[in-house]
Amino acid sequence: MALDFQATTDDLDPIPHATVDDPHPVYRRLREEHPVHYVEARDLWVLSRHADILAAIKDPESFSSSEGVVPSGFVPEKKTLIVLDPPEHTAMRKAVMRAFTPRRMAAMSDRVRGFARGLLDRLDEHADAEGRVDVFEGFTDPLPIFVMAELLGVDPSERPMFKRCGDAIVYSSGADPATLLAAQRELTDYLEVVFAERVKHPGDDLISVLLTSSDEGRALTKDELLGLCFLLLVAGTETTTSALGNALLLLERDRASRKRLVEDPTLLESAVEEILRYDSPVQGLSRVTRRDVRLHGRTIPEGARVHLLYASANRDPRAFPDPDRFDIARTPNNHVAFGFGIHFCLGASLARLELNIGLAEWLRHAPDYTLEVDELERLPSDTNRGFAKLPVRL
Ligand code: HEM
Repeated sequence: MALDFQATTDDLDPIPHATVDDPHPVYRRLREEHPVHYVEARDLWVLSRHADILAAIKDPESFSSSEGVVPSGFVPEKKTLIVLDPPEHTAMRKAVMRAFTPRRMAAMSDRVRGFARGLLDRLDEHADAEGRVDVFEGFTDPLPIFVMAELLGVDPSERPMFKRCGDAIVYSSGADPATLLAAQRELTDYLEVVFAERVKHPGDDLISVLLTSSDEGRALTKDELLGLCFLLLVAGTETTTSALGNALLLLERDRASRKRLVEDPTLLESAVEEILRYDSPVQGLSRVTRRDVRLHGRTIPEGARVHLLYASANRDPRAFPDPDRFDIARTPNNHVAFGFGIHFCLGASLARLELNIGLAEWLRHAPDYTLEVDELERLPSDTNRGFAKLPVRL
């Protein structure tokens, strides 16, 4: 693993940097010297300043999501929320928001704590012969998957199936396409049974609400709901897993902040925001221009794919004083780790809940943990930044 990677001066393609130890030398050069940069090999334009990125996400008429939001241009078969533009996006988001109420998210709090404690109590079962535990396997990976299963009303007996299929779908990069397809089919079959049951016996759960129309909005079709469930799984689990893993490394490297946090848990809330800002799980997402865009003396042509480097915006000195300082008490903290505007993360409040509770429970369980920094493994990704292996000595 390239933990000591230093950016070379001739390589300003930010995509491979999502998975190096410190991508910020490259992001800084982009921001300061090439705020509108064209990566010819990828046919990809890159914006890296906070103000430019905000302006682009606030203008979906010029910067469209409908041709995919990842640099490869992948668009899911069932086009859903994240790859829709207004007016389709507006209608779908309104329909979905009925189920993502602050009350429903807050009600998850006890369940999240229960899952976190249950996993941490069984962490020793994952220890290797030398007494090291992989916290990815035992904690940061299963926690968000269990929370998602709960949100979608998956029966507890089906949780292992949900996790097996979920992992196959979420961590599918480089996987055998047949395995991925089989996992998608198994999960689809299961969800279709759940939907049919909820239509017959609707309850107060998220699926029932989305399948029923109300004064506030229309019902989703079963096909739309299926697309949404897959999006929630892909957008809501690896990202949260990554944020937890990134937190563990940041608090390994900055023991003083860890000590402060253990002694004063009222700092958790601002610490979570700072972890998201300082080491953002989603480094960037893209849009496609619907017109020529003139910026900093350059013209991005209509039809160009433009990568919005959220992680660079989050270190822009024009937006954050002393941006490379990790400050768990930083306020205000207007980071764009959850995006901004119409596509602002639908699960942000749930993610914040999971991170606050997950981190609090972790620090209660293992305040003196030591991360085996040389043994870490990063998740391979063009856009996300997190770990697939986190060996720890408790
Ligand atoms: C730390 C964890 C998370 C991070 C860093 C994160 C990040 C993001 C970002 C950057 C976007 C904006 C997409 C864009 O600009 O095109 C987004 C959108 C979205 N996120 Fe999250 N997310 C997280 C957790 C979650 C969770 C837990 C859920 C589900 C419960 C979720 C569901 C979604 C959905 C559905 C969208 C699309 C919203 C739309 O297009 O209207 N995310 N997320």
